[in-house]
Amino acid sequence: MTVLSGDEATAVLDRQTSVMEQLATGAALTDVLEGIVVALEELIAGSRCSVLLLDADGVLRHGAAPTLPRAYSDAIDGLEPGPLAGSCGTAVHLGRQVVASDVVSDPRWAPFRDLAVEHDIGACWSSPIRSQAKIVGTFAVYDRQPHEPDARERELVRRFTHLASIAVTHDGAANEREARHAAELARQTAERANHAKSQFVTSLSHELRTPLQSITGFTEGLKTLDLSPDRRQQALDGISHASAHILSIVDDVLDLARVEAGAMPIALEPVGAADVAAATVALTRPLADACGITVELVGRPVDVIADRRRLQQVLLNLVSNALRFSTSDTVVTIRTEPAIRHGSRVAHVHVIDQGPGIPEELLARLFVPFDRLGADAGREGGAGLGLVLSKRLTEAMGGALDLDSTVGVGTHVRITLQPSPRTPKP
Ligand SMILES: Nc1ncnc2c1ncn2[C@@H]1O[C@H](COP(=O)(O)OP(=O)(O)OP(=O)(O)O)[C@@H](O)[C@H]1O
Ligand SMILES: [Mg+2]
Repeated sequence: MTVLSGDEATAVLDRQTSVMEQLATGAALTDVLEGIVVALEELIAGSRCSVLLLDADGVLRHGAAPTLPRAYSDAIDGLEPGPLAGSCGTAVHLGRQVVASDVVSDPRWAPFRDLAVEHDIGACWSSPIRSQAKIVGTFAVYDRQPHEPDARERELVRRFTHLASIAVTHDGAANEREARHAAELARQTAERANHAKSQFVTSLSHELRTPLQSITGFTEGLKTLDLSPDRRQQALDGISHASAHILSIVDDVLDLARVEAGAMPIALEPVGAADVAAATVALTRPLADACGITVELVGRPVDVIADRRRLQQVLLNLVSNALRFSTSDTVVTIRTEPAIRHGSRVAHVHVIDQGPGIPEELLARLFVPFDRLGADAGREGGAGLGLVLSKRLTEAMGGALDLDSTVGVGTHVRITLQPSPRTPKP
């Protein structure tokens, strides 16, 4: 350090501190390198400096050169290291500093002589930047005249090259940390997806086993020749009920798999939401009568952009939930209406019941396949696929499905869809 004056040594230390600060705050590598380059240019009057970085293909790329002409930087971008590759390419090739005190007569500059003259370059000396003993780039100082660097200049370049090495090493370590973090996140996501998948398969086989067992039981019974006609009929009804249940689970699972794979054919067209709601009321009337529940249709007719069949499927799922989980003498309301959401026109279809409601702590499990939240499958009969399938189908139609529930008050499901242009203003 003896070749530097006290002031210069302080300036180097100051610059070192500010680079450390920049690195600590996560500044971009190019900004840090530009800061280093500018600082050296201030200490070596009339000089222009640059940092080139080796890329994965082993060629030198622009790192920082705030005062060199852009055309010159562009011309040497992609420089391949070699024995006659100017100061920088040769420095990488030889693994040591290369001083070209007069580029016009220096053989290593022969291929770049015209470029040097054009951009007013008389001398250039370049040192390899190392990170963990590996060469990662070069630090170059250009002079307009032929010039041999003195001891002071060499010391300054040594210091600043070292500073650039620290910046590049730090950046590499930060990138590596980030890549490790991203890989860890990806691993966790894959693990969760894997777990969800095996959970799904376990639940599916469990759900199928119960009706299959009852079919086996009834078939065994039918093999007994002395079964009374009544018992025979019971067994046949039982088989047909269990088969229908299996079929509906298989249908729902296939729909869910298709919609989650983005392979569900969805034919979007303007659909009268109130018409679909009215059809739902008609289709669920036998269930509503059996439950002693009234289903009413209110609101304003709205045309939505939807797949009619899939919208019908969603509404049937929601209304049958409302009916199966509510007590008798309550009312289930379907309301269709135009609305504004986040400043845009939308259409809403609400399904509101006066059932027991869902405890807040169970809401997060609502859209988990096969999770019935502890509901008795024997009485209510579902497999726990209706809500997740309805949500995915609605999303596949470009809409959203939200559920609100208050224990003791009831459950409110809101479907949001795009309105068709024919829809009246809210
Ligand atoms: N309107 C509602 N009121 C109270 N609880 C509900 C309501 N809708 C759904 N739930 C609860 O959420 C669970 C999941 O509903 P989902 O529709 O997904 O399945 P499911 O109705 O049990 O079976 P599936 O719809 O496959 O026939 C239900 O088992 C029930 O516990
Ligand atoms: Mg359901």
